[in-house]
Amino acid sequence: MQHYFIDKQHKAADYFEFKDSVLGLELCFRSCDSIFSKNKIDNGTRALLNAIIKHETLSGYGLDLGCGLGVIGIALIKTFGVKMLMSDVNKTAVSLANENLIKNNVNSTAIYSDGFNEIKDKFDFIVSNPPIKTGKTLLFKLMDGALKHLKQGGKLILVIRKDHGMESLKTYLTLIFGNCEILERDKGYYILKCIKN
Ligand SMILES: C[S@@+](CC[C@H](N)C(=O)[O-])C[C@H]1O[C@@H](n2cnc3c(N)ncnc32)[C@H](O)[C@@H]1O
Repeated sequence: MQHYFIDKQHKAADYFEFKDSVLGLELCFRSCDSIFSKNKIDNGTRALLNAIIKHETLSGYGLDLGCGLGVIGIALIKTFGVKMLMSDVNKTAVSLANENLIKNNVNSTAIYSDGFNEIKDKFDFIVSNPPIKTGKTLLFKLMDGALKHLKQGGKLILVIRKDHGMESLKTYLTLIFGNCEILERDKGYYILKCIKN
């Protein structure tokens, strides 16, 4: 089975566009077969963004980790006027996210990075709908990287489904951060928040 995060060669016919809205924003995306949630905003991503707007104020410099088409970064930059970096291990996703930034008149950059391998910056916040299908080892490694790449007082905000390992992720985050709060529950999606103290 081919997972969504594996790059593959694409033909011109694999590319298409769609429009969707979130946080009251009308957004348009260029997309492609094999990209995560290729023709609509994912329900988990939507739950994450709705929880952030309800409970949080973001400021400073953030990272959209595993940006895919760029939905999270684009929506947060437009909503909060923050500066963000976006990253993904899938080169097609990185290229599409950069196109989508321009399409939606947002000033940011998406870069290729396997986890934090290519990322040197430190962030005030890291937001992610993280890859789950890659397994716990990679997921937990991404969490270690997030802790390392947050500034003191910085926050990590994630979405995960209860039945996709929420409890074990929450336990691991509590172990490494010393805290992990459930910011919101939304139809099986849990929004978790940790602060680097
Ligand atoms: C659940 S999708 C979320 C995509 C996008 N943020 C959204 O909300 O629609 C997870 C993303 O993580 C990316 N990913 C998987 N493994 C990764 C890794 N090791 N480093 C960075 N990104 C990774 C995938 O390519 C995918 O785009």
